[in-house]
Amino acid sequence: MSLVPMTEFLPRAKKEGFAVGQFNMNNLEFVQGIAAAAKEEQSPFIFGVSEGAMRYMGIEYVVAMARIAAQESGVPVALHLDHGSSFEVAMKCIQAGFSSVMFDGSHYPYEENIRLTREVVKAAHAVGVSVEGELGTIGGVEDDVQVDEADAALAKPEEAIRFWEETQVDAMAVAVGTAHGMYKGEPKIRFDIIEEVSRNIEAPIVLHGGSGVPDESIQKAVQLGVGKINVNTESQVACTQVVRDLLGENPDMIDPRKYLGPGRDAIKETVKGKMRLFNSSGKA
Ligand code: 13P
Repeated sequence: MSLVPMTEFLPRAKKEGFAVGQFNMNNLEFVQGIAAAAKEEQSPFIFGVSEGAMRYMGIEYVVAMARIAAQESGVPVALHLDHGSSFEVAMKCIQAGFSSVMFDGSHYPYEENIRLTREVVKAAHAVGVSVEGELGTIGGVEDDVQVDEADAALAKPEEAIRFWEETQVDAMAVAVGTAHGMYKGEPKIRFDIIEEVSRNIEAPIVLHGGSGVPDESIQKAVQLGVGKINVNTESQVACTQVVRDLLGENPDMIDPRKYLGPGRDAIKETVKGKMRLFNSSGKA
């Protein structure tokens, strides 16, 4: 299959009560591990690419790898810019072949966030590309996005509803208490915000910071209208642990395939587990 916008599967996800995972792409092993998981699970999925990951891999490599992964897996795949910081970067991604973009205007004043997001939506929708917007600020660190827990601000439901009405984004990230990275304690998710916003907008809600959220909380969030869940750190932790153990136990190991291959398998298993948890397995 070729790359598709998120609108190919997100409306159905919200209607049928499952969520599609956004799995972040960091290098070739992530691309292959995620695509292999999706093929086995017959699950649609979203490749999330942060601006930092794009600088690391190069935008042309990102698009080429995603296209091959979509063909190879045979399931619907969206290639999505994660936390795009400007109109320009979103347009650059669309021109390069991305099928979806996030414009993260959450650090702008509310009205300015609406105005800027609308501009991205207008340009993206004109060429069949889906858009995610964000309201409230999600704590934690992810590449260029760094928010102190003290500055993390939950979204106000009435503002989130008006944001969606005025921007018509295809997926709506609202800060509900999750954070990027692993949690020190258990995240306190505001299910009441998810419920109220979801009831009043057509688009599904996006849960950022999906790593380390207890399974029951994920299931409850999906029931209430979360249709997209982002996972990066858990795949990184699983891969790195395997590589670290192998290199620790085998100081003479020098062929990268010998440790990156098992690292790739660990990513695949992590992603398969999430697809089952999100109930997206068999929904391709
Ligand atoms: P985690 O790294 O906490 O899984 O969050 C990923 C994410 O939200 C990407 O936008």
